[in-house]
Parts: sequence; structure tokens; C-alpha cells
Amino acid sequence: MSEGAQKKQEKPRKFQAIRGTRDLLPSETVLWNHVEQTAHAVFGTFGFGEIRVPIFESTDLFARSIGAETDVVSKEMYTFGGFAEFSERVRGGRMEGMLSEMQPEEMISLRPEATASVCRAYIEHSMQQLPQPVKLYYMGPMFRRERPQKGRYRQFYQIGAEVLGGSDAPAIDAEVIEMVMTFFDRLELQGVQLDINSIGDRNCRPKYVDLLRAELLKVKDRLGPDSQRRIETNPLRVLDSKLESEQGIIATLPRIADHLCEECAAHYAAVKHQLEMRGVIYRENWRLVRGLDYYMRTTFEITAQGLGSQNAVCGGGRYDGLVELLGGPSTKGIGFAIGEDRLILSLQESGKAPAQEGRDVYIAWMGERAHATAIRAAKDLRKAGFSVELPPLEQKFGKALGQADKLGAKYALILGDNEVSEGLWTLKTLADGSQAKYTEPDLLDHLRKSKAVSS
Ligand code: HAM
Repeated sequence: MSEGAQKKQEKPRKFQAIRGTRDLLPSETVLWNHVEQTAHAVFGTFGFGEIRVPIFESTDLFARSIGAETDVVSKEMYTFGGFAEFSERVRGGRMEGMLSEMQPEEMISLRPEATASVCRAYIEHSMQQLPQPVKLYYMGPMFRRERPQKGRYRQFYQIGAEVLGGSDAPAIDAEVIEMVMTFFDRLELQGVQLDINSIGDRNCRPKYVDLLRAELLKVKDRLGPDSQRRIETNPLRVLDSKLESEQGIIATLPRIADHLCEECAAHYAAVKHQLEMRGVIYRENWRLVRGLDYYMRTTFEITAQGLGSQNAVCGGGRYDGLVELLGGPSTKGIGFAIGEDRLILSLQESGKAPAQEGRDVYIAWMGERAHATAIRAAKDLRKAGFSVELPPLEQKFGKALGQADKLGAKYALILGDNEVSEGLWTLKTLADGSQAKYTEPDLLDHLRKSKAVSS
């Protein structure tokens, strides 16, 4: 077979979005934009400023902050650069010794979350010199190599916020939570449930973890392989288990609330009081431990309706000491991240999504002179803020009107030779089929008035 014939036979590959990633089309991005604009507006009223951090950072930044043993770092990061051998090691969860061997090129990872990056930026830009606390929010894509399912993607989007500074006043915890709840309320998110907990600090948590480990060892045989492994790596995560067979065992385990030191217990009590002062309704959940290592004291999670098993729409907590761990000054911190994909899913399922706006005006034109007028009309109408569809090719009026209908246009502006020579333009209202003629200035005036009435 000649080379040419062979080429003809090969079907070109059809590319598809990589597993766990997806396209968001205009019918959906209307809602995404609405959600993001609401976040800008609500977070702005709480005095938060937007920060944009890079999509990739040093692998070590995430390993140090989130924890090398966590699922996110040991299994789920997209890591590249350096040597192939090292990315294998990161994927296989064997981070040990990696740092010393990392010369000469630094490994980088796509960000699985943004708290670590925000802390890095706080240090890099000496934000401790700004009026405290520094209140920042962000939105954008994050990357985790998880098993994709409804509400769980490998490229997903978060809207998050962080408060960094010298104070760990419980009112800060409560205000951060109040802000997310206000945001969800503004979006009319349905079935919102806030769970809170305190997981103690450096003083009391290690003792509790030891106690928990000892208790778990006694029932090890009755636990599944994941929990058995976690007895060694991170016993707190056993409390997270959703395995039906483990629920009865977990219910009998010691609870952290009974083992908090005096300071942590007082902080937790004050956070609850502050939430009550703000009218924020919460449920205490002693099993809420969160999957990232940097947390201490306050942790919280919010679920919403219509999401199936992946129903956590927001997670957050306090992480005092993380900035120091990254080489910065002594700093307290608390924040959250909302899973925007899940938030959108829940809003869609409950019918709270705004409809995609159709065009205001479709210009049906015929003839060369009319085309020139149509181009000028489109420019003027767009300048006045109307959305205008100007077909690139001449088409019969019947076909043009059909097209206008399909696009959901409110009006069709009909421009033919007659209209141009008379200086009177025909405007057809597509909803009722009525028609009227206007001079150019009158037409703009009429459209402006009718837009003001409908909005
Ligand atoms: P996280 O719990 O790992 O916390 O993630 C926060 C939220 O992101 C989750 O509740 C979920 O809605 C969403 N999410 C996580 N993974 C996926 C995924 N694969 N697909 C879709 N959505 C997902 C953090 O990321 C912390 N940085 C939050 C934080 C900020 N804590 C303090 N400050």
C-alpha cells in the first residue's frame, strides 16, 4: 500500500477530555459566573481581598504543609520535573529521603489545594507587616488524582478563604464560618448542614491519638484494611470511615471532646458561643477530623443536598503554626475551601440555577446597503449594552427569523432596502409577533425602556 493510501485508511484519533476533567459549556458557565460573582460580593462585605496564587508550586511545600503521609500528598498529586524516578516515588507514597536527593532540579506539583500556597505567599510578601489579620480569598482549579465519580474530579474548582495573623480569637473562627453560611444563603443552597469539632492542639492531641491507637489495636481484626493501615499512620482518620461494618466499633471509641486540654476546651466553647451570637446553626460531630495534617482546634465541614456520597461542599479549620512550619513568623490561621463543582451540582439539582440569557436583538438584514447599516446598528446597540447577533451572511427573512427564535432572541431588527431608504427600521417582538417601525434614535430609546421594565 502506498504511504498516501495508508494515511487515508487511518481514522484520525478522536480526542476526549482526560478522565476526571471536563468542559464547562456556556449553558453551565452562567451559573459558575453567578456563583463566583456572589463570592466576590459576599466576601468583599466581610473585608476579604482576592489573592491569585500559581497553579503549581514546589512539591515540598505541599508535602510539608498537608503532610507526606496524607492521601492527598502520598497518592493524589500530579508531580513532575526533577527525575522520573522521583515522581514514581511520590505516587507510590514514598516521600522519605526525597528532599535530599532532589538536586539539581526541583520537583513541582499541580496544587491539590491552596492553603499551603497562601501561607507561602503570606511569608514571601511579609504580610505580617500589614494590618492584622490578613483576610484573603481565592478561586480556581485544584488537581487530585482521585477515582472520578459524581462530584469528584481530578481537576476541580475551589472557592476558599484564609485569615492569617497574630490572633486566634474564637470570633475569627465564627466569622469565617458565618461568611460561608451567608454565601450559601445568598445562593439559596438547599439542605445546608454545618458540622463542627475541635481536634485539640499540640498539647492534648498526641495523648488522645495514643489512646485512640491503643483502643483501635484491641479491635484491629474487626477493621478493614484501610483502617488497619491508619492505626499506624493516622488513627484519627479511622473516625472518618464510612464502612458500614466499622460504624458500631467507632461508636465505642474514646471521643476527643473528653480529652481536650483546658485551653482547647475553652476555645471550642467560645467558638460555639460566638456562632450562637451570630445565629449560625451547627451540629457537633466528634468524628470530624479532616484529612490534612495542618489542622488543630476548630474543624468544620458543610454538606448540602443532592450530592450523593460526595456531599461535603465545604471543609475548613484552624491551622495555627503552619506558617512557622514553612519558615515564617509565628502566625495563627483559619480558613475553608468550598468545592465549587459540588456547590454548582447541588444548586442545579434544586433548580436554583439562573437560565442562560438569550440575545436581546437578532439583526435580520438583506442587501449590501442594509448590511452596512446592520453593522453600524450592531455597534451602537452593543455599546448601549444590548446583546446582539449579527449574521455574517445574507439570508432570507423567514430563515433569519427562525434562527432568531432558536437563539431565544427577544427582538428581530429587520433591515432591508426599504427600511434603509425610508430611515424607518422594523422591530419585531418575537414573543407575540407584533411589529412596529422606528427611527434609529427612537428604536434605541424603545429598547432601553423595555429593558428597564423587564429587569
Ligand atoms: P478539602 O476538604 O480537602 O480541604 O477540600 C475542600 C472541598 O473541596 C471539599 O469539601 C470538596 O467540596 C472539594 N473537593 C475536594 N476534592 C475534590 C475533588 N476531587 N472533586 C471535587 N471537589 C473536591 C482543603 O482543600 C483545605 N485547603 C480547606 C482549607 C482552607 N482549610 C483551611 N483553609
